[in-house]
Amino acid sequence: MALELKTRENIRGIRKAGRVVAACHKALSNRLAPGVTTHEIDRFVERFMLDRGATPAQKGYKGYPFATCASVNDVVCHGFPDSEPLESGDIVTIDMVADMNGWKADSAWTYIIGKSTPATDKLLRVAQQSLMEGIRKALPGNYIGDIGYAVQRRAEREGYNVVSMFVGHGIGRNMHEYPEVTHYGPPGQGVKLEEGMVITIEPIVTTGRSEVYIARDGWTARTVDGSWAAQFEHTVAITKDGPIILTRWE
Ligand code: MF3
Ligand code: CO
Repeated sequence: MALELKTRENIRGIRKAGRVVAACHKALSNRLAPGVTTHEIDRFVERFMLDRGATPAQKGYKGYPFATCASVNDVVCHGFPDSEPLESGDIVTIDMVADMNGWKADSAWTYIIGKSTPATDKLLRVAQQSLMEGIRKALPGNYIGDIGYAVQRRAEREGYNVVSMFVGHGIGRNMHEYPEVTHYGPPGQGVKLEEGMVITIEPIVTTGRSEVYIARDGWTARTVDGSWAAQFEHTVAITKDGPIILTRWE
């Protein structure tokens, strides 16, 4: 598949979608609390997007039935929203993609429900740092492998692991475009980064083993050893002035 470089105008389009996603995550961060269900979160996100002229691009994508993925504790990604109330101490990753005038932006964020523990605090901190170290390498002339290496090194230094089964991706008019963005591997290898590429970086970090399995619903991915996972994802434009995070909200 050909690599589609984006113009400044194209990137403005993706940024508009990114602003909706960012504002939605910010709103969620104030609403998530023990007793809230992931189904309620899913309804909130869909309404939030529609009220701002965007649509939830995940809904109907390859048959996926919801606006968000809601992945609790040992679910690494692609969890189905359901009617179980979240409990204090849980962690939940909310992944969403907004489509605004045909342009897509994608961001996932892991939240602590109620009271954290030292273990969940550290997992979220390391996962977020992994993402940020990867983003720092998203420069023209670098390689996909430079991003993956930085991400993996950060996680493994803390004794954690990166789930290699899921990768980031180019994004634009389509949710998933070329190239694949691996979150591991040697530096200096893979696709060369160019100005005008827009990609997601979205490492999933676990405290245990990196192997996962897909549940019988065909989507929900869990760690085989039951260890918990966190994921932070941004949509990032590669420019000569450095990486621009199009879904930033913090
Ligand atoms: N947002 C996810 C990603 O990062 C896509 C999840 S699959 C879907 O690629 F079916 F839910 F869209
Ligand atoms: Co993504």
